[in-house]
Formats: sequence, structure tokens, C-alpha cells
Amino acid sequence: MSNDLKKIFREIENLSLKSDNYFEIYEKHLKKFVGKEIIFVEIGVLNGGSLQMWKKFFGKKARIIGIDINPECKKFEDDQIEIFIGDQSSKIFWKNFFEQVSNVDVILDDGAHTNISQINTTLSCINNINNDGLLIIEDTHTSYINKYNTSKKYTFINFTKKIIDKLYKSGNSIYKNDKFNLGKRIFSINFYQSCVIFNINENKSTQNNTVYNNKLDHEIKDMTFQHFLNHEKSFLGNIKLIKNFIRIFKKYKTNRYLKKIFN
Ligand SMILES: C[S@@+](CC[C@H](N)C(=O)[O-])C[C@H]1O[C@@H](n2cnc3c(N)ncnc32)[C@H](O)[C@@H]1O
Repeated sequence: MSNDLKKIFREIENLSLKSDNYFEIYEKHLKKFVGKEIIFVEIGVLNGGSLQMWKKFFGKKARIIGIDINPECKKFEDDQIEIFIGDQSSKIFWKNFFEQVSNVDVILDDGAHTNISQINTTLSCINNINNDGLLIIEDTHTSYINKYNTSKKYTFINFTKKIIDKLYKSGNSIYKNDKFNLGKRIFSINFYQSCVIFNINENKSTQNNTVYNNKLDHEIKDMTFQHFLNHEKSFLGNIKLIKNFIRIFKKYKTNRYLKKIFN
């Protein structure tokens, strides 16, 4: 068992291919699982090298599961390492998988990298990952490469933007509107170069009450939105029509400025 993932990567017997920046990201997020009794799943086995790396990294108590669509990969089963053959873009595959394996701690997707495989993996897995667990989707730059996508609109990254909207929509409404129940389970999301990490915790994601400390209240005026109104201080601002005109003009100018940022 060692914490130096890149060193292990160089020492393993079988071939593996990983982006160089992933090692630091993985050490940061996966360190807490080292030496623990966890279930770690990697989609995409190929030559079996990365599974050997994870086995060494997490230690003897970890159960390592590889998933691949290619039946040849079954030969990389080993002590502590199980291989499941199936298609990660199939919801039926995932249903059977979780019925057999139960909930898991970490799922790392280094499989097909297509929009439908990444999206269906996210939809099928998030509700089957333990609290404090992770879903890691690798190589998300494929959202910008045509051959990995059935549509420019329905890319994995556009899908994550929808999830962000759900997470931030006011109050508890996400729990009512979220047809896949994702908002209830995702505590936070990390966006890295080419890799997205969903941090799962149902308890933390539902803690959205405002708490007061009941200490001294100086009754200070809260000046939020004051910057929207500053212009109204001019003598012309007293006339209602002019006031409304300035308000609309200021909104237009602000939106024109924001449009440049968004495009
Ligand atoms: C990039 S390679 C995996 C590399 C490996 N994780 C490593 O680091 O050495 C991608 C693998 O995903 C598998 N794959 C492709 N489409 C798949 C799908 N729909 N479901 C499951 N596995 C898939 C391929 O057969 C291939 O072995």
C-alpha cells in the first residue's frame, strides 16, 4: 500500500494510459479510501493495468471491480480484482450490476467517453454510491469532439450544466422537480481539466437551513441591491418616468456587458 499513485503507475506489470494531471487529482480525492474496506469500480479495463494500480494504491481490504464491454478483459481477474462484462450505456446492465454487487464507494469512468455512456452511467450510478463516495468521469473534453456525441446539444458537459441548475434552484424545489433524484444525493461537483467529480452525500446535500447564532444585533441596514439603485440619486431620479427609464437602460447596459462574458 502506497500513497504515491504515479510511482505505482510506473511500476505495475500491465499497460495503462492516464492523463498526467489525473494523478494529483486522484491522490487528493481518493487518499481517504486508502487502507479501507471499500468497493472501487473502474469502467474500462483494456489491458488491466489501471486495475493493478488501484489494487496496490488502496491496499488489501479493497474490492476492485473492472467493467468492460470486451469479454477478453475477463482474463484480468485476479486476487481482489473482479471483472464484469457489459455495456456502461445500458441502464439494464447497471440495474443487474447493483443488484449483484450492492452499493459501492467509488466509480471511475474511463470507458467509452461518449455522451450517452457518460450520461447513462451518471444517471444509473449516483443513487448507488455510498455517502462520502465519488463518481469520477474521465476525459470529459470528449464533449467537444463530434464523434463522441450524438448531438452538439446533448453532450455530457451540457448535462452537468443542467445538474448545476438543479442544485442551485431556490430552496427545496430541486427535490420536487428532479426526476432522477440526483440533487438529493450530490453534495458538490469538482470540474477539472478533462475530468468531473461528483461528491455524493445525501445528508450534507439536504442541509440547507439558514442558522442564526443569536448574538448581538446592531440593526445594520443590509444594502444588497443598492448598486442597482445608485443612479436614482440624481435630481432627475425623482421623476417616476425618468426613474423607470434609467432602470431599464441600466439593465440593458448590464446585460450587454454580461453577454460579452457569456459568449
Ligand atoms: C481508455 S480504455 C481503458 C483504459 C484503462 N482504464 C487504463 O487506464 O489502462 C477504454 C476501455 O473501455 C471499454 N469500453 C468502450 N465502450 C464501453 C462500454 N460501452 N461499456 C463498457 N466498456 C467500454 C473499451 O473496450 C476499452 O477497453
